[in-house]
Amino acid sequence: MSDYTNHAVVLKQRPQGEIQDGDLAMEERPVRAPGDGEVVAQVLWLSLDPYMRPRMNDAKGYMDPIAIDEPIVGESVARIVESRSSTLKVGDLVTCYSGWQEYVTFPADAPMVYKIYPKDKVPLQTYLGVAGMPGRTGYCGLTYVGKPNAGETVVVSAASGPVGTVVGQTAKKEGCRVVGVAGGPEKCRFVVEELGFDACVDYKAGNLETDLKAACPDGIDIYFENVGGAVTRAVAPLLNEGARVPICGYVSAYNATNIAEVETPFHVLKALDPVPEHRFFLVTEWQDKHQEITNTLTNRIAAGELKYRETHAEGLESAIEAFKGMLKGKNFGKQLVHVAD
Ligand SMILES: NC(=O)c1ccc[n+]([C@@H]2O[C@H](COP(=O)([O-])OP(=O)(O)OC[C@H]3O[C@@H](n4cnc5c(N)ncnc54)[C@H](OP(=O)(O)O)[C@@H]3O)[C@@H](O)[C@H]2O)c1
Repeated sequence: MSDYTNHAVVLKQRPQGEIQDGDLAMEERPVRAPGDGEVVAQVLWLSLDPYMRPRMNDAKGYMDPIAIDEPIVGESVARIVESRSSTLKVGDLVTCYSGWQEYVTFPADAPMVYKIYPKDKVPLQTYLGVAGMPGRTGYCGLTYVGKPNAGETVVVSAASGPVGTVVGQTAKKEGCRVVGVAGGPEKCRFVVEELGFDACVDYKAGNLETDLKAACPDGIDIYFENVGGAVTRAVAPLLNEGARVPICGYVSAYNATNIAEVETPFHVLKALDPVPEHRFFLVTEWQDKHQEITNTLTNRIAAGELKYRETHAEGLESAIEAFKGMLKGKNFGKQLVHVAD
């Protein structure tokens, strides 16, 4: 064992519905001393992402469930503090899947470990947000599954979050009319006035169907699905012939007690005639383009072209409450935890 004092947030029992006290707990955990080719990294920023909630369930999705007593999975920006590797040296910055903890030991050549080459005007934590996994998700899902053409109408839900932010601004660059869906007037104002979308519908305002129809007078050519539920049902009748629906996620169902009983976007879309082109995708389908797309996104941030918002929680101990809040939309933009400097 090494000498670092490490805290980790671990899964104590599987949440039934919303996360309750006692489901997750912060505990002191040892840090394994590095072997040959391994490094110890200190987590600086931890990313909180919606996918972590389904992984707390005892159901195999596209990834294995988190084991009881194990740290919650998660990606971070971390600094190498000890190295027995020739490829990563002390002081290097990386993104890695550390889990929710302060220190982690891993082989320098482990999958999904990427060295960060810092750029001016690109804050480190954006490598977890609009320049990171969610940003690449929005970029790839729109570009390769949505296949936008100039003049088309693109609707994206969870519009003020990191995925939606990149989807909308990328679609604007492609010459599309872009309509966001977000919760509350403040988020909707930000999406239009700061991110430059053409319109944004507040799904909490009580007139979702009519407001969406008014915002999409020519129907919808691409619906980028992030939330499912009532938003999908309102989008469905407005989809044009030839419409594409990249299914990125459906966060409205993630706290369901039994996710197998939820009406998913697949149910809603398959009931339409004609059935629109739609498929679930994973950002890892384009893992070979990781560096290229990261460069595209960081260049856009540095140029001031790609706008975004972030919510920072302070200290690992604040991660549980911040995560619970994010699943209800309490975050405004990318939810991060600042763990260390
Ligand atoms: N397929 C992949 O590879 C992949 C990769 C990354 C992310 N994703 C998915 O992409 C989606 C967005 O991720 P993100 O990181 O950008 O999240 P995010 O927008 O930062 O956070 C989730 C947002 O979902 C909205 N929301 C929560 N409950 C809702 C409900 N019942 N109805 C409508 N909206 C609701 C909230 O925004 P409002 O306040 O606006 O409601 C909340 O802020 C998620 O579904 C996630 O699982 C998929």
